[in-house]
Amino acid sequence: MKTTIKKAILPAAGLGTRFLPATKASPKEMLPIVDKPLIQYAVEESISCGIEDFIIITGKYKRAIEDHFDTAYRLEEKLRTSGKEKILKELNKLNHINLAYIRQRVPMGLGHAILCAKPFVKNEPFVVILSDDVIDPEYPLLQEMIKIYEKKKCPVIALEEVPRSEVNRYGIIDGRQEGNMYRINNLVEKPKPEKSPSNLAIIGRYILTPEIFNILEKQKPGAGGEIQLTDALKSLVKKTPIYGYLIKGKRYDAGDKLGYLKATVDFALKNRELSGDFKKYLIEKIEKLR
Ligand code: UTP
Repeated sequence: MKTTIKKAILPAAGLGTRFLPATKASPKEMLPIVDKPLIQYAVEESISCGIEDFIIITGKYKRAIEDHFDTAYRLEEKLRTSGKEKILKELNKLNHINLAYIRQRVPMGLGHAILCAKPFVKNEPFVVILSDDVIDPEYPLLQEMIKIYEKKKCPVIALEEVPRSEVNRYGIIDGRQEGNMYRINNLVEKPKPEKSPSNLAIIGRYILTPEIFNILEKQKPGAGGEIQLTDALKSLVKKTPIYGYLIKGKRYDAGDKLGYLKATVDFALKNRELSGDFKKYLIEKIEKLR
């Protein structure tokens, strides 16, 4: 796909407290769904939109992410000499992308993580992908958002309708529907259900413009004492239009144990090598549970 957006920021410096103890010394973004880590799904999603420059925001205990995208000489040699060319090809398929790593020294929130990329993004629009929000790879959410950006040249954020009882886990928008989009008037981070302006939650795909950096630089800590991207967007929407795009496919919150398990089951059922045996196993299991 043709786009003027060249860069993606992948914040991966969060503490992953919902997935402890698995995330104590290894990154949440490296949790696998079937055979690929969460962050690789995010990278492949961006590549399908023509984005090949990645800025990954890392922190303590996140070195495995760098190793994952690096060459593994010994392993590759072993695969070559043992004739495992198919696996080797799979391992090398992301070799053409450009990766930069920035360390967020203290995890001060998503807004702060994005601000860390300012010197490397300069004056361009960019995509932000939260790897723990996994989108069904068959559904081109990011491509649809990029099309809107190319038409409007304004920030676009992905939305999902969530039950009212869960709005306090998300950034929530107030907006007016315009065709297949929402023109956003206001945003609020983790509102109480009774005070929430809607049940339209912000999910982990954003197309942003560089004005957000100037706002983030002055942004005071908000919910949870963190520098929140939602608060910065709330200031930005007073100056420039921001559009919301309601997701039409499936999203999994893989940073949450139940969401992660759902993603694993669905992806395994779609996996050519696994689906037959896995489905048989699930059916037997369900029969026993009845
Ligand atoms: P989450 O809200 O999922 O936080 O962050 P978390 O720390 O990763 O996980 P929990 O909630 O404690 O289980 C959303 C995204 O923002 C990144 C995370 O890595 C994740 O991709 N993030 C968050 C940062 O990069 N830095 C931060 O300071 C906070």
